[in-house]
Amino acid sequence: MIIRLFDTREELDQYAAGLFVELLSVKPDAVLGLATGSTPIGIYEKIVDSYNKGQVTFKDATTYNLDEYVGLPRENEQSYAYFMNHHLFRHIDIPAERTYLPNGLAADPAAECARYDGMLLSRQVDIQLLGLGHNGHIGFNEPDRELHAGTHIVDLQKETLEANARFFASMDDVPKQAITMGVGSILKAKTILLVVKGADKAEIVKRALQGPITTEVPASLLQTHANVIVLLDQEAGRLL
Ligand code: GLP
Repeated sequence: MIIRLFDTREELDQYAAGLFVELLSVKPDAVLGLATGSTPIGIYEKIVDSYNKGQVTFKDATTYNLDEYVGLPRENEQSYAYFMNHHLFRHIDIPAERTYLPNGLAADPAAECARYDGMLLSRQVDIQLLGLGHNGHIGFNEPDRELHAGTHIVDLQKETLEANARFFASMDDVPKQAITMGVGSILKAKTILLVVKGADKAEIVKRALQGPITTEVPASLLQTHANVIVLLDQEAGRLL
């Protein structure tokens, strides 16, 4: 595991974006695993900057997102499909048909999970971007006695609902379920890029990276992966 601390978020975002740009320069048809949340927004901005400067093209790339809320149409500004389009896809030349997210409106959620897993089995993700939930969740894999390997429907925990409520008009509007790639699917990526920012995540960063490997801290399973790069700002890394 490589851990890098950055003095500023600007530098962190630039470095992370550079990893995607570099990968695409040597492998234009790379498969990118993408994430939502506030953490990657600055990284997407830097990627768009590079694209605007002609330093990278996405025309042969494919993307898979980690997760999506159940019940939100893609036009809903809080859906992750909307988020990805707003922050990244509409600004770059990636063909829409190669940007995949779980469909949170699928009539048959179990079939949707199987469909998503089938796609992930056919193509290995080259680099998987991950944020970190305050309770150690990755994607929407919440702490539990057992974790799922594959894509599944998850009941979001109180702490996650509360953390996500800031984006919604009221707590009642926050979706209670999501579809998420499983920890097994995440760990199949060739490289995992875990990005964490902010003092409020310092404790969970320490537990995830240096604590015991436990399903109660899903991110701790990243310690078992051979190629993890962790990018932290000073606040998030202050307890390491
Ligand atoms: C959500 C997402 C995660 C993300 C987490 C942290 O729950 N499903 O993928 O990592 O929030 O979000 P933030 O980066 O806003 O702290």
